[in-house]
Amino acid sequence: MLKVILLNGSPRKDSNTKDVLEICASEIQKHDVEAEIIELRGKKIQSCIACNKCAEIGKCALNDGLNEIIDKIKNADGFIPAAPVYFGTARGDIMSALQRIGKVSRSTDKFLDWMVGGPITIARRAGQTLTLQEMTMFFPINNMIIAGSTYWNIIFAGPTGTATQDTEGIQTIKKFAENVANIIKKIKT
Ligand SMILES: Cc1cc2nc3c(=O)[nH]c(=O)nc-3n(C[C@H](O)[C@H](O)[C@H](O)COP(=O)(O)O)c2cc1C
Repeated sequence: MLKVILLNGSPRKDSNTKDVLEICASEIQKHDVEAEIIELRGKKIQSCIACNKCAEIGKCALNDGLNEIIDKIKNADGFIPAAPVYFGTARGDIMSALQRIGKVSRSTDKFLDWMVGGPITIARRAGQTLTLQEMTMFFPINNMIIAGSTYWNIIFAGPTGTATQDTEGIQTIKKFAENVANIIKKIKT
């Protein structure tokens, strides 16, 4: 079965990011592609230490739970990381995760090749577009395919539960999700 992994970079239990990813995942599933949300919450994701051991051992040398996430990504056809904006850029641990996932892929069998997806960013007031650009850098350098939508994948949400009030943002995410599923089906079947 074709599958997309969605990575939630929020540390909060009932996060806006989770609400957005649940809508995104359910839209992907409506188009006959499996979707699984994985949380970084509760994990202590370290930054890449540039040890280059991944080239020798085929996985990251740091044991903080990211290798288990990498194994799931390896078995997927799509990848969607989502993050809250912190001081105008992405929360640190999602960038640490992306940098290590990319490094392991490039140093091993390039499992990210032709994987379909794109980032999503969430903020109360400002910083979504810069954060989207920051996270987008991960995709082309890893030979991935970014799906479009009718706007950028940005959501305005402050207090818990307010993401769904951004109706244009949610419409954008739904169209993006549909595109991710349809591109995967076109190139993988
Ligand atoms: C440390 C910190 C920094 C933040 N910086 C920004 C910011 O630069 N711009 C903004 O609009 N919101 C900022 N916020 C608010 C969050 O991005 C916003 O509440 C978001 O919905 C949280 O997502 P979550 O519910 O998925 O954790 C910040 C929040 C925290 C905790």
